[in-house]
Amino acid sequence: MDFTLVQVNLGVAMAGKFIDGVPVDALKGSMRDFRVPVGADLLERTAGFYEWQDARRQSGTWPFSRSTEAGPAASCEIRDDAGNLSRGVNFASQDYLSLSSHPAVLAAAKDAIDTMGVHSAGSPALVGNTSTSVALEARIAEFLQMKEALLYPTGWAAGFGVIKGLVRDQDYIVMDALSHACLQTGAQAATKNVMLFRHNNVDHCRQQLATIRARDPNAGIMVVTESLFSMDSDTPDIAALQKLAHEYGATLMVDVAHDLGNIGEDGTGHIGKQNMLGQVDLVMGSFSKTFGSNGGFVAMNDRAVKEYLRFYSPSCTFSNALSPAQVAAVTKSLDIIQSDEGAKLRNRLMYNICMLREQLRDRGMDVYGDPSAIVCVKTGDEALARMAARELPELGLVANLVEFPAVGKGLARFRLQVMAAHTEDEIEAAVERIGTAMETGRRLLEENNHVSGGVREIRKLAG
Ligand SMILES: Cc1ncc(COP(=O)(O)O)c(C=O)c1O
Repeated sequence: MDFTLVQVNLGVAMAGKFIDGVPVDALKGSMRDFRVPVGADLLERTAGFYEWQDARRQSGTWPFSRSTEAGPAASCEIRDDAGNLSRGVNFASQDYLSLSSHPAVLAAAKDAIDTMGVHSAGSPALVGNTSTSVALEARIAEFLQMKEALLYPTGWAAGFGVIKGLVRDQDYIVMDALSHACLQTGAQAATKNVMLFRHNNVDHCRQQLATIRARDPNAGIMVVTESLFSMDSDTPDIAALQKLAHEYGATLMVDVAHDLGNIGEDGTGHIGKQNMLGQVDLVMGSFSKTFGSNGGFVAMNDRAVKEYLRFYSPSCTFSNALSPAQVAAVTKSLDIIQSDEGAKLRNRLMYNICMLREQLRDRGMDVYGDPSAIVCVKTGDEALARMAARELPELGLVANLVEFPAVGKGLARFRLQVMAAHTEDEIEAAVERIGTAMETGRRLLEENNHVSGGVREIRKLAG
């Protein structure tokens, strides 16, 4: 029999109704609906989003904008956006090697405050650097076997700033379709000529490059990807992309935010695992996932590129440099990452990751991608994801819900971020609690005959 896959918008059957106290409206829609609000009053037109958000906030289906009471730890207290306090095992922190609470990192930050104060004097283009931030640039370059590195105030600033700093109107960007917002926003700000290639698809990247070169043999082209995708936990063939970029006279930039420091025997991430250290044109990353503090960087093999970016990359040139405490925390984290202790922490982290993935699968749940500190549990339907998220505070699990437009429609997921400090008990608790939340959410939707408002794929007999 001949079946054709068609997409059908099933609509929402129950407008105005409630499911276990949750208005059905809170289960519909997405942030995308409010991206281009209508009306001439820039302030007034924010109200529509607030109304939708508040329906979710009041019904416990808005698991965003939460705060920890005493900083993030493997288990912690958390306050939601409606002011409710709960306690749970924490799988929502980007502190993969748990270095942000390491005694030596804390001591280094405190010492830096005592000796250098809490402020950076200004931009790295003026007097913002300190002897310690200049030294950190050299350390990062050396770690990646690159010649130079430049620091940025955050990873976002680095991703945005490198692209905006180097790419001009007439140039092109060829970017993995799932690239992070900082890369996409940088690309949009730099040129109208942005072409996406299918996720991790080297052949499609080649097609895009060939199209550009046929049209314009002299344009600058930047190819952009990530070494570990933060929603799908997968990795491109970096060597193939670099070779391809050079074949077409393009420059490759790889964002290593999520794997540098925590993946690979020596912590050099997938670039190291693929024997590409020192060979990628531009390596950009963040300190906020594995290096215990905030900050970002880009590493390159040419001093001219570094100097150009320092003065033409707006988020570096016109923003204050990292503070001495941030620099000290990152530098001490790098010391640990490069030590035997770092190797042990990476082993422990991978043990936790594998245990979590295995137990989730045993409990009947599906996870994305390859083993990494990002373990995304598939929920699919946004309504189910929101109903399940509502259960988590009471069950005692802190996890981030990711939904459209951060990921595709109907591809919602819980993103669990694993840390070396998680215990086996905490991992077991997380699996049990997310399983229970999903079961409860599913049951409530089924009992109320809820039909999702998302686009669902159904099989239809053709002809
Ligand atoms: C792939 C990627 N790049 C860059 C960033 C931005 O890093 P930061 O949090 O340091 O601004 C993130 C943060 O989530 C990220 O996931």
